[in-house]
Amino acid sequence: MDNVVDTILDRSIALGYGKPGLEIRRRLPGWPEDPPRREGAVMLVTGAASGIGLAAAQGFARLGATVYALARNDGRAGEAVERIAGAVPGADVRPASCDLSSLKAIHAFAEEFAAREPRLDVLVNNAGVMPDERTTSADGHELMFATHVLAPLALASLLAPVLERSAPSRVINVSSGGMYGQALPAGDWESELDSYSPKKFYARTKREEVVITELLAERVRVRGIVVHSMHPGWVDTEGVRRWMPVFRKLTVPIIRTPEQGADTVVWLGAAASEPLADAGRFWHDRRPRPTHYRLGATEESDADRRALWRYCQDALAEAGIDGW
Ligand SMILES: NC(=O)c1ccc[n+]([C@@H]2O[C@H](COP(=O)([O-])OP(=O)(O)OC[C@H]3O[C@@H](n4cnc5c(N)ncnc54)[C@H](OP(=O)(O)O)[C@@H]3O)[C@@H](O)[C@H]2O)c1
Repeated sequence: MDNVVDTILDRSIALGYGKPGLEIRRRLPGWPEDPPRREGAVMLVTGAASGIGLAAAQGFARLGATVYALARNDGRAGEAVERIAGAVPGADVRPASCDLSSLKAIHAFAEEFAAREPRLDVLVNNAGVMPDERTTSADGHELMFATHVLAPLALASLLAPVLERSAPSRVINVSSGGMYGQALPAGDWESELDSYSPKKFYARTKREEVVITELLAERVRVRGIVVHSMHPGWVDTEGVRRWMPVFRKLTVPIIRTPEQGADTVVWLGAAASEPLADAGRFWHDRRPRPTHYRLGATEESDADRRALWRYCQDALAEAGIDGW
């Protein structure tokens, strides 16, 4: 019965992705246990100055973990640390800054981090954007592709040696339920041939992020690194207020708090066993979910998946980053 209720919530979208989804699921039998304390564990959260990333960083700090709060520059990283320490007295929280749209900046940050930090138990790739106009990164990539696809892959690749030292370790990629509406843009991975649409391009990169998660998970599991993606539902954050003000207004009665949106991020990063039992899954509210609902309309071929992987590996290689 709990499965039936959970599935109805999921397919109804508005109920499942909003507050009621989490509140009802929490009361169902079989709701997974909250994570245990994680003293001694080191978590790195990107986009930690606001929204879901900030709430996830606070969640890990509450469990006693050491948290690196990564933001785009020193000023934002300082704000992140202040907000986390303000919410969690005694938190062991440290600033980290890196513009994740730049592969060069990621390379420099990750090399320095790996040289300095003996362990990394959890990497949360959460930073996200939805610019109003087509924007190109310093490396010449479409900004959402750079931030949602290349950055998580580059960080996981460069930090793999530290993650491996802390095995079993975890990489959590924060995608979006919006990805259900888009197929992989086969052969046009950065949507260069299409006229710009923030929501459509965003959803495509979030679909690409899920596919990249699955492919990375297969490759790194033997090294003791478990990779998953998830979607947080609809969450009231600075990003949503800025990029989707109408959507935010319409969903006010049911939109989740950042803490609710971060619940599954923290659980995936810190729960004792379930997230480690499998890899490459797409989670929402502490359960693995299908990656396609519109069968036939959004499914990709193996050849397309391999082509996306190759395209990303070539982009990393161009920036001097060894991939897989
Ligand atoms: N809110 C939702 O309903 C929802 C739903 C589905 C998925 N998501 C996903 O959840 C994640 C978090 O989003 P949010 O809603 O919490 O929005 P948010 O408050 O805007 O958080 C996004 C964070 O990413 C950071 N960021 C963006 N580009 C960056 C870069 N190049 N380098 C370093 N940091 C960068 C932002 O920093 P600045 O503020 O300094 O720019 C910001 O702190 C995103 O991946 C988003 O796609 C959100």
